[in-house]
Amino acid sequence: MIRTYDDYREIYRKSIENPEHFWDTIADQFVWHKRWTKTVDWNFNDPDVKWFVDGKFNITQNAIDRHLPLNSGKTAFIWEPNSPEGHKRIITYQNLHDEVCQLANTLKNLGVKKGDRVCIYMPMIPESVFAMLACARIGAVHSVVFAGFSSSALAGRIQDSDCKIVLTSDGAYRGPKDIPIKSVVDEALRECPGVEKVLMYKHTGTIVNLTEKDIIWQDVVPYASPVCEPEIMDSEDMLFILYTSGSTGKPKGVVHTCGGYMVYTCYTFQTVFQMDGLNDVNTNQNVFWCTADVGWITGHSYIAYGPLLAGASSVLFEGVPTFPDAGRFWNVIDKYKVTHFYTAPTAIRALEAAGLQYVAPYDLSSLKVLGSVGEPINEEAWQWYHKNIGKEKCPIVDTWWQTETGGIMISAIAGITPTKPGYATLPLPGIQPILVDEKGNEIPGNDVEGNLCIKFPWPSIVRTTYGDHARCRQAYFETYPGLYFTGDGCKRDHDGFYRITGRVDDVMNISGHRIGTAEVESAINSHIDVVESAVVGYPHDIKGQGIYAYVIVPSTTKNHDMLKKEIIAEVNKIIGPIAKPDKIQIVNGLPKTRSGKIMRRILRKVAEGEISNLGDTSTLLDPSVVEEIVKGRL
Ligand code: PRX
Repeated sequence: MIRTYDDYREIYRKSIENPEHFWDTIADQFVWHKRWTKTVDWNFNDPDVKWFVDGKFNITQNAIDRHLPLNSGKTAFIWEPNSPEGHKRIITYQNLHDEVCQLANTLKNLGVKKGDRVCIYMPMIPESVFAMLACARIGAVHSVVFAGFSSSALAGRIQDSDCKIVLTSDGAYRGPKDIPIKSVVDEALRECPGVEKVLMYKHTGTIVNLTEKDIIWQDVVPYASPVCEPEIMDSEDMLFILYTSGSTGKPKGVVHTCGGYMVYTCYTFQTVFQMDGLNDVNTNQNVFWCTADVGWITGHSYIAYGPLLAGASSVLFEGVPTFPDAGRFWNVIDKYKVTHFYTAPTAIRALEAAGLQYVAPYDLSSLKVLGSVGEPINEEAWQWYHKNIGKEKCPIVDTWWQTETGGIMISAIAGITPTKPGYATLPLPGIQPILVDEKGNEIPGNDVEGNLCIKFPWPSIVRTTYGDHARCRQAYFETYPGLYFTGDGCKRDHDGFYRITGRVDDVMNISGHRIGTAEVESAINSHIDVVESAVVGYPHDIKGQGIYAYVIVPSTTKNHDMLKKEIIAEVNKIIGPIAKPDKIQIVNGLPKTRSGKIMRRILRKVAEGEISNLGDTSTLLDPSVVEEIVKGRL
């Protein structure tokens, strides 16, 4: 256990000197059917990484059954519905066991077998977590798709991993909206003939169109047996696929495997947040709340797996931070006496902008630790969070990590590591970050800046990208041979503390959501009038980054406002509202080099409003294009 800053330094040192011993000690705290024979086997060239080799176990036995003898009545989840007038639900560890087993048996009855892929497209209700765990119980691989993605984005993901069955609900509440998500699934399935069954949970009561593939959850799950023996899995069997955007092409399916992911998410959850008393779950009064959606990695690791593996109690929230008003988060913290609160800078900035009158009515004295995730947190938002929410007594853990890392990599340990606004601070034990220059040379020492890489594997490192291992190599292991490349730029200050500066590739971070410029361009280009487009991120007060699109529409007869609306509708249809451009500038040409490459550096500067120094434009095919773009800047 890390109790002091000196402990941290000592444990960190040991974890680097002897990683096998360090991770063995942690992995030994779980229930294994058969212990592993080798801790780690790896090379970053193929890449080929295996942890806890030959170990056999089931993650749900560790996340649920292991807690039952002493803590069957302990709350696993408090579910807070979208509407504050709705009824909360309390799910104990025993309830969780029974629900997961009933659903697991239902999936078996529907023909799902070990290794089959199951798509989960559901709102933030406890059934979403049951669904993930039911898959894991029987060795099926879940692929959760955020329920805000469009039917075409959903179809692409179902096809890529060849899912056999889809779990969904009739509708989803999101603030004042009632979204008919089953109809999105229906639409997607027109392009997915491989899907055999759809299991639909009745949640909103929205009228749906039932087809012969559809089965209503409530008609079958409650009648299934609440006993389902866990499937014994190998450490390196696939646990789940989660799609994420890269700098090129379509989103890729990041693959995580059972053993390493279990060990790492539980360890990081316990370590970073320092949920006191976790080893003595009987007396533990702490309530954790991660506001992410289970459709993202943060929800996978710190709503579902991490807290459950640690035997913690957490809040599962269906709604949005601004409904019915901007006091909702603070209201829920007060209502359930939340002790550990984990959210994204974009939410903090939006709630800061709404004003302190929304914070004032609530008692936030239960809070002990605040967390931030998903994007760089600016100093102003950090200070606001620290002063007004943490009342200057709660440490802030600014946690840097990625879908591909599975769990938190660089972060303060609550109450132990000194914090600095804007700094993720120091690597967790077992994590070996290095900064490199463009050529891949290590940049040693402090007060330096470079591209962030990791030089040694950790248990939950991405294993492959589903169905395309070469893409995994190319995306993460080829830029700097022998290293895992994160895609992020990073500073290391005079104290050796890390500050993530943002992506150095063509990936944007919009409200903490990762979106590739190539994906948005491809969606825009599918509009009939568009011949070419280029998309860049620009600084946005609330979202962190906004999307700025330059679009060429040579022969359109439409009015530009109308055209822009149509382009936005096209992006909504192909990806979803999260990828909607904030600004669309109609242009006659794009700045290209003689070899035809778009000079995004210039487009980024124009979007940022930094037009006084656009840098060297002499290599452009047609420099006059730049003048026109600058003149028409939005
Ligand atoms: O650029 C970094 C940013 O989010 C990216 C990872 O996005 P995703 O895979 O969707 O996972 C988000 C949740 C873990 C990173 O490459 N990022 C994440 N956390 C931070 C961050 N940037 C700065 N500070 C952070 N704490």
